[in-house]
Amino acid sequence: MNLTNQLTALLDIDYPIIQAPMAGEATPELAIAVANAGGLGGLGCSYMSVDEIERNVARIRAGTDGSFNLNFFAHPEPRADAKLDASTRARVAPFYEELGIAEVPERGVATCDTFSWEKTEALVELRPRVVSFHFGLPDLDMVRALQRAGIAVMSSATTVAEASRLDEAGVDVVIAQGWEAGGHHGSFEASADDVGVGLVALVPQVADAVRCPVVAAGGIADGRGIAAALVLGAQGVQLGTAFLSCPEANTDDNYRAALRQARDDDTRLSSAFSGRPARTRNNRYVEAMARARTRFPDYPTMYAFSQPLAQACAGGKASGFEFVLYGQAAALNRELPAAELVARLVDETRESLGLTDKSR
Ligand SMILES: Cc1cc2nc3c(=O)[nH]c(=O)nc-3n(C[C@H](O)[C@H](O)[C@H](O)COP(=O)(O)O)c2cc1C
Repeated sequence: MNLTNQLTALLDIDYPIIQAPMAGEATPELAIAVANAGGLGGLGCSYMSVDEIERNVARIRAGTDGSFNLNFFAHPEPRADAKLDASTRARVAPFYEELGIAEVPERGVATCDTFSWEKTEALVELRPRVVSFHFGLPDLDMVRALQRAGIAVMSSATTVAEASRLDEAGVDVVIAQGWEAGGHHGSFEASADDVGVGLVALVPQVADAVRCPVVAAGGIADGRGIAAALVLGAQGVQLGTAFLSCPEANTDDNYRAALRQARDDDTRLSSAFSGRPARTRNNRYVEAMARARTRFPDYPTMYAFSQPLAQACAGGKASGFEFVLYGQAAALNRELPAAELVARLVDETRESLGLTDKSR
């Protein structure tokens, strides 16, 4: 088994290792380092205007000729729901009082736009090697416009049914995202937090169900995990949490400290921050909201209620309400520059697979 395959040829990369495009935490410097090391660099662009996307692409291109991926959330327009806003307000009000925050917001407000024709047209001009989506796909005419421009389109699936829908829609790559994964889960619906499929069960079933190459994501942190994913039928892997400890990531001191202390069992999947399930370090807020077994305002409007609580904890001023995203394998993280991490991952994968021939 060689490390080059249909996926590496399609994405024009040396190794089947993809750095997850983590909005807020991935930086152009991280994407550059990964691309120069032979993997696929990535940048989460959901919170960026077209101008910001253009500036960031220019920065990436100034640092690398390698392939990179720009990522967007494909959520539907959030619905206004005054009743749900009011019940959410009542539920979080005691926390606001405790932390001394004056006002609970009246209603949820969207903090990022849904994907648009404006962004599609900008991407057609910019022509990154890859555009990936999370939470399903936008309008299929937008997907076709990207593909006609020679851009490979990927999206995440958390079940076989979602993977089949992506395959039928004609994506170039399906990312099978296991329940272990850190950050937002790509489920098409904002479904319950306590259901999900683990990566070892998901990857072979997705590989059997779809025609396009499959990438495995979730709980992979070293060459053992990568080798296992390849054996299970994936052609590549996407790692998020593992790259959070790289100096190029936009991870602050408290975040890095949390990663150093991370354990296999200290995260939960929770919709209580954004309105969609995300794997985050467990804390008082996550537990209280899980006990309430309630629905939250649509993604991303729930942030309006949760962000002031998280901000009140910034810099260690208070605790229990922080939003610290990472996956179940964070304890395996290594604090290495991204290029060194990619090189290590490649060596470890070869060793795990018994590949002694170091030629590509
Ligand atoms: C901090 C963080 C932020 C993330 N942000 C995004 C994002 O903006 N877009 C996206 O498609 N996936 C995002 N993800 C999910 C990753 O794409 C990937 O599925 C996940 O990191 C894999 O699991 P791992 O963290 O255990 O490696 C994020 C993950 C983390 C840890």
